[in-house]
Amino acid sequence: RKKVTLGTLRSLYQKQEPITMITAHDFPSAHVADAAGMDMVLVGDSLAMVALGMEDTSEVVLEEMILHCRSVARATKAAFTVGDLPMGCYEIAPEQALESAIRVIKEGRVQGIKLEGGLEMAPTIAKISGAGIPVLGHIGLTPQRQHSLGGFRVQGKTTVGALKVLEDALAVQEAGCFAVVLEAVPAEVASLVTKKLHIPTIGIGAGSGCSGQVLVQVDMSGNFPPGRFLPKFVKKYGDVWGESYKAIETYKTEVKSRAYPAQEHTYPMPKEEFNEFES
Ligand code: KIV
Ligand code: NA
Repeated sequence: RKKVTLGTLRSLYQKQEPITMITAHDFPSAHVADAAGMDMVLVGDSLAMVALGMEDTSEVVLEEMILHCRSVARATKAAFTVGDLPMGCYEIAPEQALESAIRVIKEGRVQGIKLEGGLEMAPTIAKISGAGIPVLGHIGLTPQRQHSLGGFRVQGKTTVGALKVLEDALAVQEAGCFAVVLEAVPAEVASLVTKKLHIPTIGIGAGSGCSGQVLVQVDMSGNFPPGRFLPKFVKKYGDVWGESYKAIETYKTEVKSRAYPAQEHTYPMPKEEFNEFES
């Protein structure tokens, strides 16, 4: 498979072929996503929860993001790979944001960065994309701003809210984003916004009218223990946690009963050698 570039993404967009994107947080999760043919891989700051066991994304820092980007980038031979800018490393000034973005690219070895925010982030997006770094926007529900949004709520459900989503989308496009993630937005709004833009929209909880879709890998592959809360938009395509659990439990049972290791897992020794060793 050839390396996916911005040109590849543009041609998918022009053909109206949906762009596929999934998160990864380490070498194995990135390797399987790349092998399965994802167009884009995102090292989302959701790694705070899914890989580092943190409460929310506000806890993850730039150094951690860079480490995980680097391990993902070693595996994504084809997928266009994007790293999230974590909360705190880009909001103070466009210069701070550019410095952080450069580190994610140079040290994290990914091809682009993503940051949250609309109109108010336009100068920052312009600064980064002006330096030749592809920027993926992220509007609608922006988890880093959960407290000011009053929690994880669908955005753009009212006329005023929908206009805000459209205004943000146009602003990040104008500022130079190559695409924009629309999170938790009514399908009708996401469709209309997609029609009004000339860059791809990547939806998560935003219906089928977007130019592409993104999901968090551990959610869609079922790589989490039973009982975890899943947002309405997640479809569980597998039971990776259940498969791992079964495998480990069987291993435990077989070790306890000495069924494992069997003859075929054991290195032989010539009988005479052993007899001599024993005597
Ligand atoms: O951090 C993340 O995984 C994301 C996607 C859900 C878009 O930002
Ligand atoms: Na994120």
